[in-house]
Formats: sequence, C-alpha cells, structure tokens
Amino acid sequence: MSDPGDTTAIDRYGVVGDPVAHSRSPVIHKLFALQTDQRMQYDLLRASPQELEDTLRRFQREGGKGLNITVPNKAEAVRLVDHLTERASTAGAVNTISFRDGEMWGDNTDGSGLVRDLLDNLRIGIGGSDILILGAGGATRGIIAPLLEQGPARIMIANRTVSKAQALAEHFSALGPVEACRFVDAPQAGPWHLVINATSAGLHGEKPPFPAEIIDRKTVAYDLSYGLNPTPFSLWANMHGAARSLMGWGMLVEQAAESFRIWRGVAPDTAPILNQLEISAS
Ligand code: ATR
Repeated sequence: MSDPGDTTAIDRYGVVGDPVAHSRSPVIHKLFALQTDQRMQYDLLRASPQELEDTLRRFQREGGKGLNITVPNKAEAVRLVDHLTERASTAGAVNTISFRDGEMWGDNTDGSGLVRDLLDNLRIGIGGSDILILGAGGATRGIIAPLLEQGPARIMIANRTVSKAQALAEHFSALGPVEACRFVDAPQAGPWHLVINATSAGLHGEKPPFPAEIIDRKTVAYDLSYGLNPTPFSLWANMHGAARSLMGWGMLVEQAAESFRIWRGVAPDTAPILNQLEISAS
C-alpha cells in the first residue's frame, strides 16, 4: 500500500518500440524494483523511428529518468542522444537512455547481457572458443565487441548477403580475430563451439536457411530470439544434435539488469526473475 503522506513523485522509466505491446521489460523491471525496494514506474511507449525524437523530448520534459530503446529504434537513438558510451558507439545502437541534468546519455547493454548470460548463468566459456554468428544486422553489430573482449579463438560472421558480413568483420578486425563467410562455407570453416543465431530468419515461421553441418554434438546453439514456444532455430539446432540449444531469455534479463543498475545504482539478482520468466514460458 502506498503511504498517503508520501508526496514524492515516482521516478519514471519505460521502453520505446514499435510494436511494443509484447515487451517483457515492464514485468522484468517491476520485479527488479520489488526485489531491490526501489520506488519506480515502468511503462510501454509506442513510437516509430520518425516519432522517436518527439517521444524522447516529451518524456524528458515530463521529468522521466530513463528509457530502454528497442526495435526498430536503436540506431535512430544514437543520432538523438547528447552523449554516447563507447560500447553504444561501437555497436551503433542505443538500448538504454538516462536523462540527467537536461541531457540524454545513451548506452548499450545488449552485448554485455549476452556475455553475462553465457558466462554466469549458462557457464559457457567464451575464451579460446570458436564462435559462429549467423546474420550481419544490428543484433550482430551489438554483440561482436563484448564477445571479442572475452578472448575467443575467433569469430566467424556468416550472412546471406556476404558483403554485409565482410563489412562488419573489417569494422571490428582491430579488436580481435573476426572473419566473414557465406552460410554454405560455414561448415568447412568449423567446427564451432558456439553458434549464435542473430538473423531475423525464422521470425515469420520459415525454416532456418543454414547448413545442418554447422552443428555437431559439441556445439552450443544460442538463439538471440526467445518465445513462449521454442524458436524455429532452437528446434532446428536440437534436431541436428546440438549439445545444448538455448533461447535468449537470459540475455533479455541480463541486459535489463544492467540498465536497471545504470539507472538506480543497484544490481538486481537476476536468477529468480529468469526462473520465473522461463517457467512461465515453458
Ligand atoms: P537486426 O537488427 O534484428 O539484426 P537487421 O539489421 O534487419 O535486424 O538484420 C537482419 C539479419 O537477418 C540480416 O543478417 C539478414 O540477412 P541479409 O543481410 O542478407 O538481409 C538476416 N535475415 C533476415 N531474413 C533472412 C532469411 N530469410 N534468410 C537468411 N537471413 C535472413
């Protein structure tokens, strides 16, 4: 129950996307707030990239403290913030904005969320491993640098449009061993310890367009997508005998926890929240 004598306004946060109604972020942040005893509100805000600037300015005028930025607005947010962290600048994408002193500070917690999920939740080593990333869009761009920081043996980016994979490999080559190839060349270049699906293939129900030989019985398959049911990629990887086939629930919760820590200065315990989400999804 709220205290009627407490007149302080509740700090406001939210997530901006289009569509956004399906977002799990409000539930996750409400659970974090309960767990850490923070008084805050977290809402859904629908805006297209064309509407993003107005939405951010209005939220700022109304005294909002922080926003998550999701599809399709992450690249547009880079243009709109006053300050960018190095990791957001490297990723070319902002997923977390803090409003402080009349200015917008853009950060990106997606890549660190993935790394934390792999290392801390799933106990999957990244150092020394051979990693294949499928796809060369915004999602791939956000995870390469944080993965390279962990010292993998190499990262191969395979993409339908190979020129996009080559451009990304070149862009990140100063940070570590990154190469590019076509999907059909990925099996010979293996074997792969970790295969990450960062494409949007399969989102519309089509069969994953990858050669089955990229998976062997030691391969961990990780789909950045997640859903109430297994994703097409996670089913496909299971069917082809992957050692483990995982969805991106942990990355979702860990990127949210890092945003929460940036905003509130408190790191929530992610394990119970992840359990709760995965149980309700299974
Ligand atoms: P995101 O921000 O989610 O990464 P994106 O930037 O649009 O979205 O990138 C989508 C990725 O999924 C791209 O790598 C795209 O391949 P292309 O670069 O060749 O377009 C990939 N993708 C989408 N649909 C695909 C399909 N049916 N088969 C193979 N790859 C697909």
